[in-house]
Amino acid sequence: MKKIIVTIDGYSSCGKSTLARQLASELGYTFIDSGAMYRAITLYFLRNHINWKDKKKAETALQNISLGFVFNNSTGKSDIYLNDENVEALIRDMLVSESVSDVSTIKEVRDFAVAQQRKMGKQKGIVMDGRDIGTTVFPKAELKIFMIADTAIRVERRYKELFAKDPNITIEEVINNLAMRDYIDSNREVSPLRKAEDAIVLDNSKLTMEEQLKIALKWVKEKVT
Ligand code: DC
Repeated sequence: MKKIIVTIDGYSSCGKSTLARQLASELGYTFIDSGAMYRAITLYFLRNHINWKDKKKAETALQNISLGFVFNNSTGKSDIYLNDENVEALIRDMLVSESVSDVSTIKEVRDFAVAQQRKMGKQKGIVMDGRDIGTTVFPKAELKIFMIADTAIRVERRYKELFAKDPNITIEEVINNLAMRDYIDSNREVSPLRKAEDAIVLDNSKLTMEEQLKIALKWVKEKVT
């Protein structure tokens, strides 16, 4: 059967990665979490005290970064590697979440990430989630999904996820972080978060994971047959 590129964009904590992972698994496609790439770059910058606002410093630092995804048999998911170190757990903490949107505004960072993302899509058969995948990374993708969900639901999902790792996290911190990232992601100059004109909106506020997967699979079927 014909292989296609599926893009899933939307605001933080709308459930994009969950759907993308399940969809890829059903289709035998590769799932790529583009946000993990921006998070790993942010982790490198923070650890090495790189002032990313200084374009030259950011550019030089990027030359020392190598990113890759490796399938983890024990979790059944792919983990992101930063210079051969598995940083999957580290990139999800609040410290990285607080800076990642700011780092993602830097053109040099985006050029670096987008070039790698496009390479990963060369053979098609991928599901990639992020903010600019349908608009910038793969503007010709066969199926583009734009996910939305009620803010209260997004906050609850993110809070549960973070609380499991750090019981000191407060709901206010989560609300503030989501609001800040929504604002920066949709107002930055380079590739802001936008719904591509030809993207289909999927509001999963009231859908179960099974229901949203069923809908997305139907859309894929329409594109490949
Ligand atoms: O999907 P996520 O929440 O893990 O993404 C983290 C941040 O990375 C997000 O706030 C903005 C940035 N990002 C981006 O600018 N472009 C993408 N394609 C994916 C993520």
